[in-house]
Amino acid sequence: MSIKNGIKHILDPVAFAEESLSWDTLDEWQKEVLQAADRQMILLCSRQAGKSQICAIKAVWTALHHPDSLTLVISASQRQSSELFRVITKEINKLNDPPKKVEDNKLSLTLASGSRICALPSAEGTIRGFSNPRLVLIDEASRVSDGIYTAIRPMMATSSEDSQLILLSTPAGRQGFFFDTWHDESKHWKKISVLAKDIPRISQAFLDREYETLGRYFYSQEYECEFIEGERAVFRYDDIIGAFSEDVKSTNILGGILDG
Ligand SMILES: Nc1ncnc2c1ncn2[C@@H]1O[C@H](COP(=O)(O)OP(=O)(O)O)[C@@H](O)[C@H]1O
Ligand SMILES: [Mg+2]
Repeated sequence: MSIKNGIKHILDPVAFAEESLSWDTLDEWQKEVLQAADRQMILLCSRQAGKSQICAIKAVWTALHHPDSLTLVISASQRQSSELFRVITKEINKLNDPPKKVEDNKLSLTLASGSRICALPSAEGTIRGFSNPRLVLIDEASRVSDGIYTAIRPMMATSSEDSQLILLSTPAGRQGFFFDTWHDESKHWKKISVLAKDIPRISQAFLDREYETLGRYFYSQEYECEFIEGERAVFRYDDIIGAFSEDVKSTNILGGILDG
């Protein structure tokens, strides 16, 4: 590769994906994910939107363009982490001029530049062994436990300001750190949400069939990014929150007692 293209790809991850990995069909939101340098990002996306794929490309770009960097891939299960790692490896193998690897196995690889990419299981003990990552990807984050998330965050304490934490997932219920982060109103998170109807690769005919098969409840979770209560929930989340709101007047049973 020419020096000019090398410099271009350091500055522009989208050009890298298009020119070095032949991704000429990236969606606009995927380009935004590649370009974003925000320290914390949350992607709330439909199934099959392309969130794992774009994060895999980001991992490859990071490992290649930041020597000595550490990228960690964490998921709810070892199988899911390994799957994302497999996509990452596939992208690296597409390069015309692949980097030399000094270690390459099913769950981690190290490039001659010192950059490492490791896929971890959801096990606190393993996670606590790492520090100073440049990029942390938590795939299917809504299904990762709060305990694991709490173990992950301090790893970044000594990371540089341009390190990144990315949570990517479909929703799964109205609790847990993924749900809380999506509703975090501070300015600490860049948020991107993509519904199935906006994905050019997913046809309306497919979605209509899914709606009929899954029913409105599961369809809205899988394809419309809705955080829904567990089917067996006794109280709706909004009602519980509403019960603590000052706007709720004490008009019913308890209210009647309190009001005398
Ligand atoms: N922009 C794109 N153009 C073409 N195919 C894509 C694009 N983004 C993702 N894909 C493909 O779509 C499929 C689903 O992507 P994936 O990242 O696994 O979805 P998700 O993790 O959101 O469920 C994969 O085969 C992936 O390679
Ligand atoms: Mg995925």
